[in-house]
Amino acid sequence: MSLLEVRGLNKRFGGLQAVGNVDFSVPHGAIKALIGPNGAGKTTLFNLVSGVLKPDSGTITFDGAEIQGRQPFQVARAGIARTFQHIRLFPKMSAVENIMIGRHVHSRAGFVSAMLSLPWTHREERAIRARALEIMDFLGIAGLADNDATSLAYGQQRIVELGRALACEPKLLLLDEPAAGLNMRETAEMAKLIERIRATGITILLVEHDMTLVMNISDEIVVLSYGEKIADDKPLKIQKNPEVIRVYLGDADA
Ligand SMILES: Nc1ncnc2c1ncn2[C@@H]1O[C@H](COP(=O)(O)OP(=O)(O)O)[C@@H](O)[C@H]1O
Ligand SMILES: [Mg+2]
Repeated sequence: MSLLEVRGLNKRFGGLQAVGNVDFSVPHGAIKALIGPNGAGKTTLFNLVSGVLKPDSGTITFDGAEIQGRQPFQVARAGIARTFQHIRLFPKMSAVENIMIGRHVHSRAGFVSAMLSLPWTHREERAIRARALEIMDFLGIAGLADNDATSLAYGQQRIVELGRALACEPKLLLLDEPAAGLNMRETAEMAKLIERIRATGITILLVEHDMTLVMNISDEIVVLSYGEKIADDKPLKIQKNPEVIRVYLGDADA
């Protein structure tokens, strides 16, 4: 059985079928990409998997248990962490503190108090900070720990977000356009980081428009168009799939 199995998933917004009867799975240890034109339903699918939205129908099975309809903090506790298409770092907090926030899902103080910035116990906080610094070291940004997070360069902020997701100690990491806004060098660095994360045993599902990155690092690619799955295959097959080329890859600006 795969780590994540999505079956017959549906989500409508008014008359719009944002996700229509989608099936796919993410094998343990894989890097799987989710691609498709703007509005195809990729972010909605992430919101369904991470518990931000409830599906109208269908099942999402993670690590053997159905999780559709659970609250985001419950999904996070089960082992799914995510980053956002638009960076969401907390202003007036340092980079390491932003990463520490990711850890709240496992701290005794819990999610709500972390969001309200209530203090952790001192011992808990020390351990959480040490772990956050370890993660920053792993990501190659240890030197930025005490910088104000939102004053960092865009590429660095994306890596801090990655660190915050890793602080949840996830089994599955959902990355929504991790290379958005990054230059070529930063994008290549992001690809390396994603591969390094996978090498630690974390499974990855990623939405990304940068086709070089997607083709280079993905084991499998799902293609959505108008909410429906039109292909699910290995990168070389996806590149040759006539329908994928027609709706997505053929469009030079996609
Ligand atoms: N919260 C929402 N409420 C209403 N419509 C939404 C919402 N989120 C997304 N949509 C619509 O659903 C469709 C899919 O959007 P989205 O999942 O963001 O696509 P993608 O991430 O592939 O660009 C779009 O037509 C979008 O306008
Ligand atoms: Mg999106």
